[in-house]
Amino acid sequence: MTDKSSNQMWGGRFAAGPDAIMEAINASIGFDKRLAAQDVAGSRAHAAMLAATGIVSDKDAEAMREGLLTVLSEIEGGTFTFSTALEDIHMNVEARLKDIIGAPAGRLHTGRSRNDQVATDFKLWVRDQLDAADAALVTLCRACIAQAEAGADWVMPGFTHLQVAQPVTWGHHMMAYVEMFGRDLSRVRDARARMNECPLGAAALAGTSFPIDRHMTAEALGFDRPAANSLDAVSDRDFALEFLSVASICAMHLSRFAEELVIWSSAQFRFVSLSDRFSTGSSIMPQKKNPDAAELIRAKIGRIFGANVALMTVMKGLPLAYSKDMQEDKEQVFDAADNLMLALAAMEGMVRDMTANRDNLRVAAASGFSTATDLADWLVRVPGLPFREAHHVTGTLVAMAEARGCDLPDLSLEEMQSVHGDINESVYDVLGVDNSVASRTSYGGTAPDRVREQVQRWKEMLG
Ligand code: ARG
Repeated sequence: MTDKSSNQMWGGRFAAGPDAIMEAINASIGFDKRLAAQDVAGSRAHAAMLAATGIVSDKDAEAMREGLLTVLSEIEGGTFTFSTALEDIHMNVEARLKDIIGAPAGRLHTGRSRNDQVATDFKLWVRDQLDAADAALVTLCRACIAQAEAGADWVMPGFTHLQVAQPVTWGHHMMAYVEMFGRDLSRVRDARARMNECPLGAAALAGTSFPIDRHMTAEALGFDRPAANSLDAVSDRDFALEFLSVASICAMHLSRFAEELVIWSSAQFRFVSLSDRFSTGSSIMPQKKNPDAAELIRAKIGRIFGANVALMTVMKGLPLAYSKDMQEDKEQVFDAADNLMLALAAMEGMVRDMTANRDNLRVAAASGFSTATDLADWLVRVPGLPFREAHHVTGTLVAMAEARGCDLPDLSLEEMQSVHGDINESVYDVLGVDNSVASRTSYGGTAPDRVREQVQRWKEMLG
């Protein structure tokens, strides 16, 4: 960059500088400054490798490595002046390095290109996000497990079609979310393992004629190996897409849970009380306590899905290898990652702090003839009716209870026997909600003992 022409970056080839609009559409520094730490780490690894392979002198490499740390501390300390004319974080860092260490800075770009540089920086950034999501999911699972353990035998209604279906336990319901977030966790880990190949040294697209050591830089940056094909290495954004896909599924789970919390905390349900810390009031209605955090989690998914679709669309028509379209990857992923992390943290806080209203759960569990299936099963098990007939007899009893405005256990034995003569006193044992849930001992069922087993299993798995 010794050239004195009006083009700061490409003065050799270009006589004129870019139009202001060109600069505005082209520059990414406004957002890719978030990659500063990764950019410096990548450059420091590259400089060390250039020295180890004899491509640059030890002295120059040392100056570069030291100077890069100074650049980073300026950025982190807020004293760095970012330049739009220098387009992106890579050029901004390199230009500042030149101010600080002079000529040796010009050797840093030997055997690499911004194409492999940006792929490396962005991968390092996404990898950090996967690690952060991993930790946040573990914490969230632990909060759900704590709820499940406390309420392994608290009965509540289970729903299908949001209509009362059968009694279940609070612990069972909480552990359903542990299964969902646990799958998210395993997807995060899969994605991390798959993406951990280093693009650095792929150079612009074809590799380089310098005797670089890509294994050395890969290892220095914590990658498992260098990416095996230079064309693919610079044009692959699967890692970003996979992050967004994993994030989308996770956000969908968060949104479903958030929806339940909105419903459960309503005056009509009163299944849970959310803590003041995770609720808001109303500016006009003094009595209100609103589940805003849950609502916002439910809404965040829009951005995350959107980012996934947006980047898929950017990538779908690109020929190999790098195209500038790919610069549009970062803002989508940054926004999705920021909002996913916020949603995970907010959900963890809400779950940790919420109080289940056990009495309301119990009353609701017994409503809507929720033990009708238990009655039908009893008719099969005790008097030996075929299930279809048992279903019909139970339906008749439900209609009778409905006409009388009572629940199934409130029907007298005489009333029941008027529908089927084989019904006896022991039927009442299965009509209570505690007996109902305690009887569902099949593997994965809602019985408190089964729930406690799952709590134990997850505690061991999460360590
Ligand atoms: N700012 C660019 C990006 O984010 C860096 C790579 C530029 N490469 C190029 N050949 N213009 O993608």
